[in-house]
Amino acid sequence: MFFSFRTREAWPLVCAHRGARSIAPENTLAAAKAGLAAGADFWELDVQMTADGELVVHHDDELTRTTDAAVRAELTHLAPYRADALALNEIRQLDAGSWFVDRDPYGTIATGEVEAPDALRGVHVPTLREALIFSRDNAFPVNIEIKDHAGRPGDATVTDKIIDCVRELGMPRMVLLSSFNHGYLRRARELAPEIPRGVLVEGSLPEAPVRYAADLGAAAFHPDHTLLVPILVSAFRAAGIAVNTWTVNGEDRAEELAAMGVNALITDWPQRFVPYLQGW
Ligand code: G3P
Ligand code: CA
Repeated sequence: MFFSFRTREAWPLVCAHRGARSIAPENTLAAAKAGLAAGADFWELDVQMTADGELVVHHDDELTRTTDAAVRAELTHLAPYRADALALNEIRQLDAGSWFVDRDPYGTIATGEVEAPDALRGVHVPTLREALIFSRDNAFPVNIEIKDHAGRPGDATVTDKIIDCVRELGMPRMVLLSSFNHGYLRRARELAPEIPRGVLVEGSLPEAPVRYAADLGAAAFHPDHTLLVPILVSAFRAAGIAVNTWTVNGEDRAEELAAMGVNALITDWPQRFVPYLQGW
């Protein structure tokens, strides 16, 4: 399936952030499935590299917030539970779902929005390969955020390994590579110009942002939504660069951004945004 950056007639595309993380544990295949079921157009995941050079789908540097690593007495030897200090087989022992069921971080279990929450217990941290196969098998494109490994093990090779995996699975048109580390995007452009790239930005805009993104050969600009104003969105659109913005969780703000003409809203709540935007 071709990864499309088009904007629908009247509303932006919806991207399920870390999967549909408000109704399933983030960055798991359960969250990807929930995003797909919600009608999202694509999903976003974060990639980290393990101590033995494997790619896993995980956001934080440590595994303590979204797994049971720190609460199982037999795993104390893994402390401080950093993803880049553990081997894949150690990470695979972890339960990446029970924290979500026990904490109900978005209150969606209490409101009944999560069907069969107990089925989420025991889900694993997926490998990137598993996540890509899920995307491919379900024709569900994916925005791969390459987490910044600067100064950590894997800095030199994480982008290369991601590209190898995408190519091996024949998916260059189903993925978008994004990163706050723009050096990784330059490397990706050099190695795999056929894979589209999105420039992640937070805090402040680069000087001459459209030229900056164009110089990186980017297909998309991915700013924190608070940085966006209509003239900026128009300038990107005029340059043929999509604007995919994050993390948009309020319906009023979604409506403002849709009116500006952004291409995609990256949200924790695709199950609410898809029907909302369709009716807008
Ligand atoms: O893709 C945008 C967004 O995911 C970046 O922030 O911290 O959620 O990875 P974060
Ligand atoms: Ca991310």
